[in-house]
Amino acid sequence: MKSALSFCNVSVRYRPQDPFVLTGISLDIAPGERVALLGLNGSGKTTLLYAAVGLVPFDGCISICDVELSRATERSIRDHVGFLFGIPEDQILFPNVLDDIAFTLERRGVPRVEARQRVLPVMKRLGVEDLAARPPHRLSHGQMQRVALAGALVSNPPLLLLDEPSAALDPVGKKETAELLVSLNTAMLIATHDLDFARLTCNRFVVLANGIIAQDGSSPERIARYWYPQTDNTNGQAIRKT
Ligand SMILES: Nc1ncnc2c1ncn2[C@@H]1O[C@H](COP(=O)(O)OP(=O)(O)OP(=O)(O)O)[C@@H](O)[C@H]1O
Ligand SMILES: [Mg+2]
Repeated sequence: MKSALSFCNVSVRYRPQDPFVLTGISLDIAPGERVALLGLNGSGKTTLLYAAVGLVPFDGCISICDVELSRATERSIRDHVGFLFGIPEDQILFPNVLDDIAFTLERRGVPRVEARQRVLPVMKRLGVEDLAARPPHRLSHGQMQRVALAGALVSNPPLLLLDEPSAALDPVGKKETAELLVSLNTAMLIATHDLDFARLTCNRFVVLANGIIAQDGSSPERIARYWYPQTDNTNGQAIRKT
């Protein structure tokens, strides 16, 4: 495999009459590479993740695991991707946690009994093994996020697209989840505002601003200093550089 995810000159708008949210994005993520996707609210991080699996219309070319995304390929391509939605409730479908996580495997053809066995080690690593019989919709937000992440990881996909995976996690959960992600031999693109989590997890940092990739590099410090609003010590004002 040459690349886990490739965007070539991709532009996205939600409807023909809308302005472009992303313009001319080109981005290659190698197999096993871990990339943080940063940028202010509304900069297009979630939109880029949606485009990668064909959930929003786009111009240009997107490939996953060297297969070009099209109407004909999008179903099979999604089997190569573990996707975590920013709102975990959006991807929880089943009345109990175990069945919900196991479904990711069952829809890929794994028999039910085997699927239910294979989810247990992943649930353990994410600290949700005691929640197996619980109704997902009665979990806390952080517990739900862990369950949704278990669903994204359980099939061992070659590419993970994760939208704000640490948003609801406690500090211990963040550290453990970062360690878990680093231990996988999986390419990932992680949309996040959490620079500590990004530093723990990723070694490449891409910043979206004004619809384009404004920075792409290996230094989170430089990126954070330049692109995120800072407090100016002289007058306490937030500075937003664009
Ligand atoms: N369904 C939609 N229809 C029209 N415009 C949308 C839709 N979803 C998002 N947008 C617009 O696209 C732009 C990018 O939104 P997006 O959700 O991708 O940003 P983001 O970087 O993920 O932001 P955040 O940090 O708040 O999660 C915003 O201007 C937003 O208003
Ligand atoms: Mg978002």
